[in-house]
Amino acid sequence: MTPDSFNFLAGLVKARSGIVLTADKGYMLETRLGPMLRRESMQGLDALAQRLRAPRAEALAAEVVEALTTNESSFFRDGKPFEHLKKLLPKLAAARPPGQPIRVWSAACSSGQEAYSIAMTAAELGPALGGRKLDILGTDISREMLDRAQEGVFTQFEVQRGLPVTMLVKHFKQEGQRWRVAPELRAQVRWQFFNLMEDPRTLGRFDIIFCRNVLIYFDAPTKSRVLGSLAGMLAPDGVVYLGGAETVLGLTERLVPAPGERGVYEPARATAKAG
Ligand SMILES: C[S@@+](CC[C@H](N)C(=O)[O-])C[C@H]1O[C@@H](n2cnc3c(N)ncnc32)[C@H](O)[C@@H]1O
Repeated sequence: MTPDSFNFLAGLVKARSGIVLTADKGYMLETRLGPMLRRESMQGLDALAQRLRAPRAEALAAEVVEALTTNESSFFRDGKPFEHLKKLLPKLAAARPPGQPIRVWSAACSSGQEAYSIAMTAAELGPALGGRKLDILGTDISREMLDRAQEGVFTQFEVQRGLPVTMLVKHFKQEGQRWRVAPELRAQVRWQFFNLMEDPRTLGRFDIIFCRNVLIYFDAPTKSRVLGSLAGMLAPDGVVYLGGAETVLGLTERLVPAPGERGVYEPARATAKAG
């Protein structure tokens, strides 16, 4: 692949998704885009770049972006955020007017494990939520992942990663080698295509936002912009959860670390008031 083709492909992916492909990612492009090249009978990435420069390449461009997303996820990933959520949900339930659901956004939800883990956390709390409903929205830029999330069927390998056996038995039904999420859990989650490069205000206001393990793929200005938008959509007593390798420090002043917690961030104003 010529440097020109690499720069073109990297520019296209960055403009459409925020994902930064550094020069050492040439091999990743080859492996991830290989199946598409073979299907389209294209000789290589230079030919792909050429096709994408031509008019009417929209569908192909979307497919390239989709192929370059990394969709790694697991149930109760990193543990700690869900421990925090367990303490937070009863507080928010008590603070909201009767009948108002707690709105939770799993931004960059991948195959859905994060959103289902949120639903299971709420289900396990039972009466501590006083009958309060959760309205969970899972969004992603990958339509393939959204389809998988919506289907709610996971392999033995996937349910063995992070999901306690008691919850597996309680919230899933075995179908051969795979496990299907119980209808009660599925009913709590809605799925929607959403690109974090777009203005998220159309999605409304949230009490809790999980935006984990996606900012790592963006550059600093993009991270700042996304974090600023998330802060603007958050209830004053809400929180944002980020991944273990992500932070707000040096990127936005609208969110601050929750005292004594890792990966949990609050709107800056709420902290100033509390102090
Ligand atoms: C590594 S997964 C993280 C999944 C989950 N949040 C977790 O922590 O387990 C990253 C996800 O971000 C999605 N993604 C990448 N760029 C995005 C964008 N611009 N808008 C929305 N989702 C994006 C990918 O499709 C992928 O499913």
